[in-house]
Amino acid sequence: MRVAVCPGSFDPVTNGHLDVFARAAAMADEVVVAVLINSSKAGLFSIDERMEILREVVEPYGNIRVDSFHGLLVDYCQAHGISTIVKGLRAVSDFDYELQMAQMNYRLAQIETAFISTNPLYSFLSSSLVKEVATFGGDVSGLVPDAVLSRLESRLSDRMG
Ligand code: PNS
Repeated sequence: MRVAVCPGSFDPVTNGHLDVFARAAAMADEVVVAVLINSSKAGLFSIDERMEILREVVEPYGNIRVDSFHGLLVDYCQAHGISTIVKGLRAVSDFDYELQMAQMNYRLAQIETAFISTNPLYSFLSSSLVKEVATFGGDVSGLVPDAVLSRLESRLSDRMG
């Protein structure tokens, strides 16, 4: 049974992430989408909210589940029998840091990283840009799942008071 992990902050998940999850799910027996718990960084959405959204969007896939982790990703992988990390690569600018992390994760625990080339439709897309554009009233429909759109609207209107 080959289990792969797609790790990230997912604050919030975008259609680019979802494309990577779906393609990873076609290659592995099971995919775990693992949300990093980072207590030093407050997000727009709480970890529970991110996981709830992720569970909604991966529901149609029979072999994707959602979890959270803190500490080193390789420790999480080893504790859960996960052999492969799957990441999306949007552009060359992602490559330097992703390669460093992949090499470090292999050095630490011989966990392999596989890269999926992001669908060009989403190569400019990031969670932080989505938040910035939505904050200033820009239209992010088509870039995030509907489960995110509705929550973004209510979260941002709460913030505006
Ligand atoms: O969505 P993000 O924030 O770009 O995801 C980054 C993430 C969670 C994949 C990365 O920060 C990570 O793996 N963090 C866990 C801590 C860790 O293992 N650090 C060493 C990496 S070599």
